[in-house]
Amino acid sequence: MLTPLSIHMISAIIWVGGMIFANAVLRPAVEHLALSDRIHLWIGVLERFFSRVWIIVFLQPATGYWMVFKEMGGFQHAGFHVTLMHAMGWIMITLFVWVYFFPFRKMKSMAREELFPEAGMYMQKIRFMVRINLVLGSMVSTLAAIGPFI
Ligand code: HEM
Repeated sequence: MLTPLSIHMISAIIWVGGMIFANAVLRPAVEHLALSDRIHLWIGVLERFFSRVWIIVFLQPATGYWMVFKEMGGFQHAGFHVTLMHAMGWIMITLFVWVYFFPFRKMKSMAREELFPEAGMYMQKIRFMVRINLVLGSMVSTLAAIGPFI
């Protein structure tokens, strides 16, 4: 059944799972391709993945705040794990928005001008920030699951 918690958890699975797939599966599998091909491939992949993440960055706070205020009676009654998740969630969202509007846009405009080494530099930046979000997302999800028991 679709509840705020299930939507919240499915969003986390798609976001964190997508980052794991990009980092650990797709990246090593396409490393042998020429730089220009890799850039075009990553633009296509990230365009599609980021359009889903945009939905998630609205769903996660919306369902999270719903649970906090409608079900738990506010942050003062929610566990410390929820306060920590809230803070880390906003760091993840800020990093995502920054990646989307700065390195990702730059990478696309460099690729349009066929400046592939420059586009590659922005791709490295995106990879680094996505790794940070992957670590944060894994920590937040673990914290969310074990938080009520500690
Ligand atoms: C942006 C602000 C966020 C708020 C206000 C929020 C709030 C909450 C609340 C109230 C719960 C229920 C906790 C409980 O029942 O003890 C929850 C569960 C959860 N949250 Fe968040 N959350 C946020 C962001 C995130 C993010 C960014 C992730 C991971 C990417 C995440 C992953 C999870 C998971 C996996 C659960 C389910 C834990 C379980 O019941 O096993 N949350 N969240």
